[in-house]
Amino acid sequence: MKIESQTYQARRERLIQSLPENTVAIIRTGDLCTRNNDCEYEFRPNSSFFYLTGFPEPSAYVLINGNGDTILVTLPKDPEKEQWDGFRYGVEGAVNTFGVCDAAPLDELDNAAIFLLDGAQNVAFPFGDEKLRQQVLVWRDNLTARARAGAVAPTQLMDLSPAIAEMRLRKDEEEIALMEKAAQISVEAHKQAMLAVRPGMKEYELEAELNYVFMKSGSRQPAYNNIVASGSNACVLHYIKNDETINDGDLVLIDAGAEFGCYAGDITRTFPANGKFTESQAALYQVVLDSHTAGLQELKVGAPYEACHNVAVRILTQGLVSLGLLTGNVDTLIESKAYRDFYMHNTGHWLGLDVHDCGTYRVNGESRPLESGMVLTIEPGLYVSLDNESVDEKWRGIGIRIEDDVLIRNDGPYILTHGLPREIDEIEAFMAQNH
Ligand code: GLY
Ligand code: MN
Ligand code: MN
Repeated sequence: MKIESQTYQARRERLIQSLPENTVAIIRTGDLCTRNNDCEYEFRPNSSFFYLTGFPEPSAYVLINGNGDTILVTLPKDPEKEQWDGFRYGVEGAVNTFGVCDAAPLDELDNAAIFLLDGAQNVAFPFGDEKLRQQVLVWRDNLTARARAGAVAPTQLMDLSPAIAEMRLRKDEEEIALMEKAAQISVEAHKQAMLAVRPGMKEYELEAELNYVFMKSGSRQPAYNNIVASGSNACVLHYIKNDETINDGDLVLIDAGAEFGCYAGDITRTFPANGKFTESQAALYQVVLDSHTAGLQELKVGAPYEACHNVAVRILTQGLVSLGLLTGNVDTLIESKAYRDFYMHNTGHWLGLDVHDCGTYRVNGESRPLESGMVLTIEPGLYVSLDNESVDEKWRGIGIRIEDDVLIRNDGPYILTHGLPREIDEIEAFMAQNH
């Protein structure tokens, strides 16, 4: 399962065509990052750079001129370095394998960039990349200083990120296949965790089950830090310590997704450590589940992105009122955002190469209408703080989130994370196989 080099070439051409004439686009991937002495974090390419090239090595740049002609600047072959750190494509390998017009070694980056920028009107690069911004300014100054020799520096600096984000927001068939694979590996990992959990285990022991399934299935790393939160730890939205003991009677909230081909899965399930929900856990869970079900109906072509969140908030607020955690009129409670004590995040985000993928949520001041090919999460939740004395004790310390990954299609929402129990009786029946 692999994206062909022609696809990357077509993306680069489409990107350049979306920019003003006579623009050179430049983007780079990351550098290796030290963890501690002589040890580096596993390298993971910059998502937008990877989207345009498929090139997996660190410290590379891609420069695209107005015709879509591409120069990939990369670390050169170096037998001695490769003896220690492994294979490099080098300049020839970059051209032969990645379908770029030309390639150059990294120490020729300045020359290659200055050559390409000479006479271009605009230079586009991601404004968030401070290192690249400094380099672009140096290249531009070089051309300005040589004006009398005939050099012409670009006059406009443009942010490249919005144009790439618009492209990445709409997934093509090859990306969708990779995303479904990432989603399905994640489904298998969550199933394994539901079967393996036992009161008395450490959260990280359960995390090990997730990582085992990810890696066994070809996902080399999670798409983000695994969250394995038992009991009231589930109320900490990005709890990643994962080092406490899971107690009998706890709910366990797992938010974990595999990365496959650099694409993210992002799933949350909340289930009882002993296989059986208590009455109060089940009551709150059902509210979150109902909001998930209702929100899903809004994930359709033409619906505004915000519609899912608005429906979810209404169902959650109604549920909080009917269970007695909030009192008052539902409309007033929504208007005053009273639900925020229990639900403090959004109901979904774009998903793709990044777990929180790029793309704006509003266009021309309006919530963005959903289009076929967009992928987003749906992830309502309720979190009752342990020290919330305004609610009955039986609710305190319960944290619940239910999260799936959804592809927008003309025929309705398609759940990429299909096959994972979500209903209370489904979860209990599934867990009963091994409890
Ligand atoms: N796992 C991060 C999120 O759900 O947004
Ligand atoms: Mn998410
Ligand atoms: Mn998540």
